[in-house]
Amino acid sequence: MRRKVTVVGAGNVGATCAQVLAAHDYADVVLVDIKEGLPQGKALDINQMGAVLGYEPRVTGSNSYEETAGSDVVVITAGLPRSPGMSRDDLVATNEKIVKDVTEKTIARSPEAILIVVSNPLDAMCHVAKNVSGWPKERVFGMAGILDTARFSTFIAWETQASVKDVTAMVLGGHGDQMVPVVSATTVGGIPLAKLVGEADIDAMVQRTAKGGGELVELLGTSAWYAPGAAAAQMVDSIMLDEKRVLPCTAYLEGEYGIDGLYMGVPVRLGSGGIEAIYELDLGADEQAMLTESAGAVREVVGLLAS
Ligand code: NAI
Ligand code: 2OP
Repeated sequence: MRRKVTVVGAGNVGATCAQVLAAHDYADVVLVDIKEGLPQGKALDINQMGAVLGYEPRVTGSNSYEETAGSDVVVITAGLPRSPGMSRDDLVATNEKIVKDVTEKTIARSPEAILIVVSNPLDAMCHVAKNVSGWPKERVFGMAGILDTARFSTFIAWETQASVKDVTAMVLGGHGDQMVPVVSATTVGGIPLAKLVGEADIDAMVQRTAKGGGELVELLGTSAWYAPGAAAAQMVDSIMLDEKRVLPCTAYLEGEYGIDGLYMGVPVRLGSGGIEAIYELDLGADEQAMLTESAGAVREVVGLLAS
């Protein structure tokens, strides 16, 4: 019997995550959504894609939670996405209710699972999942930094004309416009970015990354899904396969980086235990100041939560 991953929300991000996971061919996937027919239809389509691409996990679509029982990892993508003109924070009231409902239903059937939150506003929704579940911080965390770092890495590869595979970057902080692309920790083939690209061009890439979600919302009329779905799947892989990848994830901080009692994006080691370590980078003074400012922005949104 294969192990099991549940993805709640069979919309753009959830279905992409389920498809990427199925293609990795090691775990069955349960896709849950409140819209009748949607998870069943997408699951059937993903199963039939397996006949073309050659993967075999069973993908099951459902409007209820029975099939999710005993999941090892649950990815929560349920909720409204952004429309043009909306910030991620505009979603707070609606998505708080949805994430609360989904968390209650999933933890009742999978009490040993690890929860990965994707729904926005991401940092605040991690607080909702942690408060509702009462689970330890190692087993409740969020996806944002891998996506934000992927955007930064893409721009760097284009600017330097180097392979994106040789770009090592790290975007920390809240998943909002105050996120912190850490230039001091960014290299291309081991060469510091600042040696390869001038300050003005680096600033432009930093700005484009910070507003990267909004750029896609303007183009698509809703938020992005290919890179977000793949980023969530990368976290699932690292946990399910105990890969111990060091990835930027939204973790509950208790003093790290001078921040206490708040979910923020930081480098973590992800393995079968969930977050197994949080790493503290030596940030420049300006980067630490940006991170502190980003923490302030996250605290404001957390303050809008009903509970
Ligand atoms: P979508 O609208 O395509 O899919 C969301 C799905 O959630 C819908 O199918 C809807 O029926 C379902 N849903 C709503 N309430 C539910 C409930 N109570 N139980 C189960 N399913 C429910 O939206 P999309 O594009 O997939 O985005 C999902 C969320 O992820 C949004 O909040 C979006 O802002 C967020 N997001 C976060 C990213 C990140 O980096 N953390 C990146 C991209 C999106
Ligand atoms: C993104 O960054 C909106 O959080 C979503 O694409």
